[in-house]
Amino acid sequence: MIEIENLINSTILHISKKVKNKPKIGVILGSGLGDFADNILEKTIIPFAEIPNFPISTVVGHKGEFVFGKYENIDLVLVKGRLHYYEGYTMEQITLPIRIMKKLDIESIIITNAAGGINENFKVSDFMIITDHINFSGNNPLIGKNLDEFGSRFPDCSNIYTDSLIKSLENSLLLKNIQIQKGIYLMCSGPSYETPAEIRMFRKWGADAVGMSTVPEAIVASHSGLKVLGISCITNMAAGISSQKLSHTEVLEISEKVKPNFENILKVAINICGKN
Ligand code: HPA
Repeated sequence: MIEIENLINSTILHISKKVKNKPKIGVILGSGLGDFADNILEKTIIPFAEIPNFPISTVVGHKGEFVFGKYENIDLVLVKGRLHYYEGYTMEQITLPIRIMKKLDIESIIITNAAGGINENFKVSDFMIITDHINFSGNNPLIGKNLDEFGSRFPDCSNIYTDSLIKSLENSLLLKNIQIQKGIYLMCSGPSYETPAEIRMFRKWGADAVGMSTVPEAIVASHSGLKVLGISCITNMAAGISSQKLSHTEVLEISEKVKPNFENILKVAINICGKN
């Protein structure tokens, strides 16, 4: 397998031949948000498939690509079709886009996802700003040789999700009368959904939502000094909380239904990161 450092460097070379603007913000688009790229002007699209040796998502409907461009005059890069751990990729591979964006000099990253609601005060179609996480994936993306140019061997994780961004997002949404929850996101590896017993345990641990992504990306982003904002869309109540069986189809249906709301929140988040 090609060394990660070589892959990062060759990818940067590939991208810099095609992209002229310098993104300030990176955005990882979760389930249902792929069309957000339609809001971007002066687009340059770089499919993962055209980047030599780049891992490519196997999930149906997750076409992997970087989309560079501008939103309201803010230079940014979107990642469409993120890679998941449950697809069999290594943690190093799924966090590769974060390292690429860091090398391109972004300052903050917005990570979005679909999640199951554990907090019983949540309901389907709610959104949640991630204030902290529980890494229950069984792995850590920083295992292995430390890439010193990104960050230290034993990074502090007390403030992965940037307080000032969380507060600004909350305040801006309040002014716009957009409701948002806040809470702790717990990552399981998937691809099987959790059992009701697991969800009861996670609730006791303080988790508010559960999903199969985001945590590795947030750890790697924070390791390299990026500001991080995480936003979950609650597409279903977690196993055992509602009597309904969980299905990926339901997750996609709800993501599609609430897409305009998610896009509105994301636009506010981009404006905040653009100013901070
Ligand atoms: N569990 C794990 N991942 C998810 C869920 C869930 O209930 N909903 C959306 N992604």
